[in-house]
Amino acid sequence: MQPDNNQFRIIDLPKIEDPRGNLTFIEENNHIPFAIKRVYWIYDVPGGQFRGSHAYKELHEFIVALSGSFDVILDDGKEKRRFHLNRSYYGLYMPNLIWRSLENFSTNALCLILASTHYSKDEYIRDYNVFLKLAHNA
Ligand code: TYD
Repeated sequence: MQPDNNQFRIIDLPKIEDPRGNLTFIEENNHIPFAIKRVYWIYDVPGGQFRGSHAYKELHEFIVALSGSFDVILDDGKEKRRFHLNRSYYGLYMPNLIWRSLENFSTNALCLILASTHYSKDEYIRDYNVFLKLAHNA
């Protein structure tokens, strides 16, 4: 496992409860341990499909189920963990050099991802054996 401050983990977000409807927010370098350079979302996922199955060299991400639910499977090269995300007031922080897959999307699932870098295809590690070598040498 990686050191604590760089460990993947569920992070609870502020939840402002109100009879008019609840509100949650995220501040960079406050609720999540990085500055936000990019926001993307995954939606309209057909039943049985999965996303991901890669790792990133430097990129950190924070994943929230804004609507519906899905599973995130994280693998640091030693241990695999499955997280079921189904609420919009917490999310999963994921540092670099973690192999990740998203699956088991519910109907109307909306997966929000905050990322610490702009998009670059060079950030991706798509070969699991290459990932294992990098993770074990990190
Ligand atoms: P990819 O990250 O491989 O999707 P996933 O990991 O969810 O299966 O991205 C799919 C495509 O979208 C790929 O062609 C790159 C493009 N893309 C961007 O152009 N910008 C982005 O910010 C992201 C995340 C993907």
